[in-house]
Formats: sequence, structure tokens, C-alpha cells
Amino acid sequence: MKKRILTGITTTGTPHIGNYLGAIRPAINMSKKYDESFFFLADYHSIIKNKNSSEIQDSVKSIALAWLSCGLDVKKSYFYRQSDVPEIIELSWILNCITAKGLMNRAHAYKAAVDSNDKDDDKGITMGLFSYPILMAADILIFDSTHVPVGSDQIQHLEMTRDIANRFNHIYKPLLIVPEPIIHDKDNTIPGLDGKKMSKSYGNIIPLLENEKKLRKSIMKIVTNSLEPGIAKDFNDCTIYSLYKSFASNEELLELEDAYSNGIAWSDAKEILFNKINKELSPIRIKYEELKSDNDFINDLLNEGAKKARSIAKNKISQIREVIGIKEIL
Ligand code: TRP
Repeated sequence: MKKRILTGITTTGTPHIGNYLGAIRPAINMSKKYDESFFFLADYHSIIKNKNSSEIQDSVKSIALAWLSCGLDVKKSYFYRQSDVPEIIELSWILNCITAKGLMNRAHAYKAAVDSNDKDDDKGITMGLFSYPILMAADILIFDSTHVPVGSDQIQHLEMTRDIANRFNHIYKPLLIVPEPIIHDKDNTIPGLDGKKMSKSYGNIIPLLENEKKLRKSIMKIVTNSLEPGIAKDFNDCTIYSLYKSFASNEELLELEDAYSNGIAWSDAKEILFNKINKELSPIRIKYEELKSDNDFINDLLNEGAKKARSIAKNKISQIREVIGIKEIL
């Protein structure tokens, strides 16, 4: 059987180092090994959290540019906007009708939202937030994805997708492929400026596409303890070291470990980190600057991607409609 990887990024905010290390870089590397790859902009996911239309539009553009600038090969892969493939939304409804509400009650994101409420459990919770995992299952199942590279925060969503696919297959016919997750940050979550997981919702991101000056400024804001220069430092549990790990070779890591034992100043450690990240991001930034004012190019490319993706999705949805009885009267 063909191996097909698929992954998406929700289009809220500007792309950051966490997206790069956690999704874009591993997905592009993986696409070289798999038969087919599907990468998409999850714009219908983004309206769950963000109701500002111009922010959504800007984010779609910058996240598309991030994939392209990081070297996504659009000829070899499928690259599209979720909203350009309406069959996903159609499947999402069909899956809504077979998914147990109890399964959704257990979703971490939903439970966290309920827990953060005071008296009224439902306050601020939309049906979109509640059924988010079903839309994600539709994203994956419509394309017969076999492997889904995601961060460890998405493990539960993948389990739900597998549950939903199995249930569909049990009720109707074994038509849906039950996908395998590929978790690439098992032992290395990417910390943000404050040491918590890098996330737009924590406001602790290091931007991916900003100029050198802003990148530097952001890295200098990483929170450390107050040990003076000359005092030995521990690299375990250190945000600078942990980020460096994602960019540096083993040799370079050992050098930094030595520098820590020799009492390197935090500002010097940050400088080393900045230089390393900047080196990897420079060509990406150049590509980004080249593409960013060419909206026609981006739109054409996404339209082309949607056409390619849709021809597969249409075929799948017609098989699905057939088995559930939405078909011509005979
Ligand atoms: N939920 C994912 C996230 O927040 C984004 C996403 C949406 C996704 N649909 C997907 C990832 C399908 C993988 C496969 O990061």
C-alpha cells in the first residue's frame, strides 16, 4: 500500500519556531521518504478561536509563505487550504453523525475550557470547539492518509480519529484507512521564551519570518535564572540549551555543555543560540522576502493545490456517500 503522510497547521497568528521545529521542518524532511504528502492550512479550524477576519486572512498568507520558504516542494506534494476542499466539511458532518458525544467529552482542549470556567461549565464554549476533533478526523480520513506527523499535544486527536474511522468501518464498510500518528517531539517539547511550551496562546513565541534584528531581540528575552557569569550553570531544564538542541550538531552541543560548566554568561549563551538559529533561518528569510509581495503567485499555487487535492477528495466522498445511502434512487 502507498504511504501517504498528511499534516496541517491551524491558521492563527504568525508562524513561529515551534511550528517550524514541530511541524514544518520534520514534515518536509519526511516528505522525501514517503510516497505522497499532503500539507494544508487548517483555516476552518482557525475560526474556532479567532473571529477577526483580517487576522485569519493574514495568518493564512504567512503560514502558506512559511511552508513555501522552508522548501516545500509543491510539485511533489499536495499543498492546499482546507476551505478549498468542501468535501472535508461534508465528511465532517457524516462523521458527526457516528461519533459518540461521550468521546468528545473526553477531549483535553474541551475539558480544559470547561475547567477554566467558574459556575457555568458551558461559558464561551462553541460547538466548533467541542467537535474540533471530528473536523480533524475528516481532514485526515478524506485523503486515506496512512501516517500523520504531529506534536505530542495532538496524540489524543489522532486516537479519536482512529476511533471514529473504526466506528465508521464497523457501521458501514471498511472504507476508511485507520492512520498511524508519527510523534516527532516525544522527548523534546519546544520551549518558548518563558520555558513553557512555545505557543501563540502563551504569547511566548520566537518568530520564524521576522528580520534578524527582531529575531535577536526575541532570543535575548529568553528567561533564565540569575546566576552570574563565572558561575557554573546546569543545562538541564534550560530554555537556551533546549532550543539549541534542535539546531546544533552533537559536537556543538557538547561545546555548549562545556561552556555551561565553565560559567558562560547567559547573554553569551543567547548570542551562540542566536547565531545558530539565524544561520538556519537566513535562507528561509530570503525566500520569504522574495515571495511575500506576490499574492497572485500564492493564490495561484493554492488554487492549483486545491484542484489536485479535490479530485482525490471528490472520489472518496462519493464512495462514502454510496455506503451511507446518499445516492441515486434505483
Ligand atoms: N489540530 C492541529 C493543531 O492544532 C492542526 C490540524 C488540523 C491537523 N487538522 C489536522 C494536524 C490534521 C494534523 C492532521 O496543531
